[in-house]
Amino acid sequence: MGLFAALSSLLLLAVGPLAVSAQTTTVVVDGTASHDIPSTLWGLMFESGDGGLYGELLQNRAFQKVTPNTAAALTAWHPINANIAVVADSKPLSSALPNALQVTVPSGASGQVGVGNEGFWGINVNASWTYEASLFVRFPATLPSASPSLNFSLTSTTGTVFASKAVTIKPSASWTHVNVTLKPTRSAPSTANNFTVTFDGAALAGSTVNFALFSLFPPTFKSQKNGMRADIAEALEELGPSFFRFPGGNNLGQTVDTRWQWNATVGPLTNRPGRSGDWGYTNTDGLGLYEYLVWIESMGMQPIMAVWSGYALGGTNLAENQLAPYIEQAKEQIEFVVGDSSTSAGALRASLGHPEPFTLNFVEVGNEDFFAAGTYPYRWRDFVGNLSAAFPNIRFIATTDAWDPILSPVPQSYDVHVYQTPSWFAQNSFYYDGFQRNGTTYFEGEYAAISSNPNDIFGTPADGRFTFPTMASSTGEAAFMTGLERNSDIVFAASYAPLLNYVDNSQWLFSLNRGDEYLPSTLPNEDGTLFWSVTRRTSPAEVIIKISNTVSAPASLQFQHPFNVRASGTTQVLSGGQNSSNTPTTPNAAVPRTSTLRAGKTFEYTAPGFSVSVLTVPIA
Ligand SMILES: *[C@@H]1O[C@H](CO)[C@@H](O)[C@H](O)[C@H]1NC(C)=O
Ligand SMILES: *[C@@H]1O[C@H](CO)[C@@H](O)[C@H](O)[C@H]1NC(C)=O
Ligand SMILES: *[C@@H]1O[C@H](CO)[C@@H](O)[C@H](O)[C@H]1NC(C)=O
Ligand SMILES: *[C@@H]1O[C@H](CO)[C@@H](O)[C@H](O)[C@H]1NC(C)=O
Ligand SMILES: *[C@@H]1O[C@H](CO)[C@@H](O)[C@H](O)[C@H]1NC(C)=O
Ligand SMILES: *[C@@H]1O[C@H](CO)[C@@H](O)[C@H](O)[C@H]1NC(C)=O
Ligand SMILES: *[C@@H]1O[C@H](CO)[C@@H](O)[C@H](O)[C@H]1NC(C)=O
Ligand SMILES: *[C@@H]1O[C@H](CO)[C@@H](O)[C@H](O)[C@H]1NC(C)=O
Repeated sequence: MGLFAALSSLLLLAVGPLAVSAQTTTVVVDGTASHDIPSTLWGLMFESGDGGLYGELLQNRAFQKVTPNTAAALTAWHPINANIAVVADSKPLSSALPNALQVTVPSGASGQVGVGNEGFWGINVNASWTYEASLFVRFPATLPSASPSLNFSLTSTTGTVFASKAVTIKPSASWTHVNVTLKPTRSAPSTANNFTVTFDGAALAGSTVNFALFSLFPPTFKSQKNGMRADIAEALEELGPSFFRFPGGNNLGQTVDTRWQWNATVGPLTNRPGRSGDWGYTNTDGLGLYEYLVWIESMGMQPIMAVWSGYALGGTNLAENQLAPYIEQAKEQIEFVVGDSSTSAGALRASLGHPEPFTLNFVEVGNEDFFAAGTYPYRWRDFVGNLSAAFPNIRFIATTDAWDPILSPVPQSYDVHVYQTPSWFAQNSFYYDGFQRNGTTYFEGEYAAISSNPNDIFGTPADGRFTFPTMASSTGEAAFMTGLERNSDIVFAASYAPLLNYVDNSQWLFSLNRGDEYLPSTLPNEDGTLFWSVTRRTSPAEVIIKISNTVSAPASLQFQHPFNVRASGTTQVLSGGQNSSNTPTTPNAAVPRTSTLRAGKTFEYTAPGFSVSVLTVPIA
């Protein structure tokens, strides 16, 4: 969202000659690349889409995994001149969706009666958008004598009506699907809005009405059915990510029963039971395996997909003789992605509209199995033994640490997760430099600076985490990322963890300014505060230098390289105070600024305090 707007709105400012202080750091760049940079290097990870990436605007739309007749079951729903309750329907919409919202209209009712939903943090009512609203309705008791009018509206919480559409329905004791489009007459000034569904109270006085599977969608990314929120997906697309790691992360499952199961997330929404997620709310699974894959493909990314591997985060480890059905389910999950129509999962994918297999090069076996390293050797052996026989072209990624018990077959790759302080990141820019070059490659699947206080890292006390990234955390991460680029002969992919904090512009700077070859240069001081990496892009031909200054004092550098370059290049700089953050109320506290760089075979650059810089120099 912000980056291009911010960049294009800034004037290109010429930078005058810079004073070269006594502390200038000289960086000599080698003209011969040491290795190619994997095209997969910068990507995204995500653990759950409800209320975020997934387009659905209603919260608790289908009363999944709630206890009927409790107040909690009514989360996000509010009565309008009627009594409402979530009930276990005697004629449920489907076995996956056993609950319904029951509206009891008082005798003597008048005016609009029904129910409203508050959305996730409100509802964005935008006059440029056409919304698709739908629900299922039935009359479990006496049928009304006349066909009633069912009224869908978008209103402010104080009653201003922005959109309304009434349709006449045929009353029935069986479920009727009703869908309408809603076009607001004007945009709401805030997101303090409701979606309401009402009847004329006088017409339905004394009646009982059951509703199931409500839905309200704004336009989706590339108009994909049941798709992603266009604004978030477009912002992610601007990041230029090359892969997407899903479905977790922790979201793979807290218990064996509540683990993520691919087959519960595909097909009609009426067949998706949802699951109790790992952070205390229900996952609708509306954003299911198929939706993920279609979106990943349309974004030009490739998936790094996890399979559940016999360990639940809550602590359950399955014994080896219990693994077989879970290995089979993992096999079917992969068949759904790449199998042909001779497999039932592949045939199911084809029936949903994608006969061609999706791309799938990477499958992760579990998540953070270093927490269960003792059982991983047999789980890894049995999962990978079976899965690699069925899918010889897929690379399986282990999720224990390289120093955990030795695995057989020897993993081709490990997923490494790091949550640490900003200074840890800055001090560990050389983390991978000492790793053996023996064929094993690494996926930095989750990394983020999360607190300045080392005691907070593992939650004791748990309150010190950054709500938003700061310049100190961004420069720490960027220092670490220069190390990932330098070591991209063995680090093939990296994804920043709290994705929706994508106000962290340093990630964008790296992803959007990629070289395809790494050029060795004078190494930064491992114990220092200034870090860089130099890459070359073939087309257009340019040298791309990334610099992170992790302290408040500006730092001057002199670059010397062997290329004939144009006289001017471009500088993109993100800088700010140590603790400055982009937040919803201060979205532009630290935005990248673009200016002209005076280039040559030798040139100087001063990195401001707490800054991430990208210097781009076109090769003549
Ligand atoms: C509308 O949403 C607000 C919360 O934003 C809630 O307090 C109110 O009860 C809702 N009204 C209806 C009719 O849903
Ligand atoms: C409303 O929609 C238009 C068109 O998609 C978009 O440019 C604008 O940012 C939206 N406004 C809000 C507040 O979402
Ligand atoms: C539908 O509900 C809205 C909001 O309560 C109301 O303004 C409108 O008059 C209703 N329309 C019909 C046809 O009853
Ligand atoms: C209702 O849904 C059907 C099936 O998806 C669709 O073809 C139709 O256009 C929808 N109608 C409205 C009014 O949105
Ligand atoms: C998914 O498949 C498993 C077997 O692998 C089965 O136990 C489970 O009931 C299925 N879930 C759904 C919702 O179909
Ligand atoms: C496949 O999994 C089963 C069940 O865990 C195990 O007994 C068998 O050894 C595995 N096969 C291979 C080739 O790893
Ligand atoms: C490479 O070295 C690492 C660390 O010593 C080790 O964990 C890994 O198994 C080795 N890979 C191979 C293919 O031997
Ligand atoms: C930033 O926050 C840290 C931790 O709260 C504090 O020690 C430091 O002084 C702050 N820096 C500035 C410039 O305010």
